[in-house]
Amino acid sequence: MKPVKVGLLGIGTVGSGVFEVLRRNQEEITRRAGRGIEISAVSRRDLEKARAIVGDAARVVADPRDIIRDPEIEIVVELIGGYDLARELVLEAIAAGKHVVTANKALLAVHGTEIFAAAQARGVMVAFEAAVAGGIPIIKSLREGLTANRIQWLAGIINGTTNFILSEMRDKGLDFDTVLKQAQALGYAEADPTFDIEGIDAAHKATLMSAMAFGVPVQFDRAYVEGITQLAAQDIRYAEMLGYRIKLLGISKRTPEGIELRVHPALIPAKRLIANVEGAMNAVVVQGDAVGTTLYYGKGAGSEPTASAVIADLVDIARLAGADASQRVPYLAFQQHALGDEVVLPMAQVVTSYYLRLRVADETGVLATVTRLLAEASISIDAVIQREADQVSGEGENQTDLIILTHETREGTMNEVLARIQALPAVKAPITRIRKEELA
Ligand code: HSE
Repeated sequence: MKPVKVGLLGIGTVGSGVFEVLRRNQEEITRRAGRGIEISAVSRRDLEKARAIVGDAARVVADPRDIIRDPEIEIVVELIGGYDLARELVLEAIAAGKHVVTANKALLAVHGTEIFAAAQARGVMVAFEAAVAGGIPIIKSLREGLTANRIQWLAGIINGTTNFILSEMRDKGLDFDTVLKQAQALGYAEADPTFDIEGIDAAHKATLMSAMAFGVPVQFDRAYVEGITQLAAQDIRYAEMLGYRIKLLGISKRTPEGIELRVHPALIPAKRLIANVEGAMNAVVVQGDAVGTTLYYGKGAGSEPTASAVIADLVDIARLAGADASQRVPYLAFQQHALGDEVVLPMAQVVTSYYLRLRVADETGVLATVTRLLAEASISIDAVIQREADQVSGEGENQTDLIILTHETREGTMNEVLARIQALPAVKAPITRIRKEELA
């Protein structure tokens, strides 16, 4: 059988990894795929840089549309990133009857519904293993390995940059800004780290996993997104004293009222395996009714780990390109016509537990007042720590940190109580609130 011809839109870190791994493992990959996989063309505006990567092994073009127009190319791999041009090119490739592989989580989380509908109508595949957690085969697991299950929840450390920053903050007791600067100097964090540190990248990935776990369209616009920029080193220390680690989690849960989809820092018990995922590594826990708890761990970024995922998609397509479209694995794990209409719940309806840190005047009755306000809202307390008082004001007023762990309550209820507690004269600074997930 003739090799399948592939065109890469964009060639940089991931593209060069795809080239190298295909070259190195071509023989085994061909034995698995049943036919060879040949990158016949790549596009990049800077032709010299592209040639430096591919040499004479593939045609190099400046215009990505030259690849889309090439009748010999069956699979287009989109590695340009971003929303607009990538969307146009992917839709054009689909219209031209090409199968598409993409690592672009932002594109699919926002425009997935349009792209999957176009692909379904044209009878082509859209594969995106590299879009979530890099080299970890989590898409394959959700779409195929776990199909027997009614999935109940999933939670993941799905952004390596923020996990690296949190690990450094914990190990070295440093604050966020210092570690971010170090991470940028070392090349771990982008020059513009907004998507990573504000939780947006993780929310794109959580959106895709949520859609596949629960059989609903992508709903990024309804996701709750909070990053790590406000985290203080002292909260990481207090969490540690209470037996917890703070991680940026992407969480999606099925509840009787709807689907929770949220990204925010969370305390998780230090004894959980996922709490011990350090540095730039990624991990995802998926809980299914039949299988129980499963954990997927590995590198979430990097040239060859991401190439591993891209090539797995190429092999899938090489195997299935001739099959009837109805016999292929659906884009979002559930058949397109069978996607549900459950909506993502507003954050106020989410049920979770909390870590609270209050900077309070060290006076008689403050703790009693705070706990009374929580009790009046039926919020049960799990643990309390009060640090030794320290003198802070010129008048010699003593202040102290009051740390409270609560049991579960609705976020809306917690918001109301926190507004009341914040208004107490004895509360001297904005209250810190971090959600807590037991992941049991
Ligand atoms: N910037 C991402 C991370 C990798 O830090 O995990 C690509 O999604």
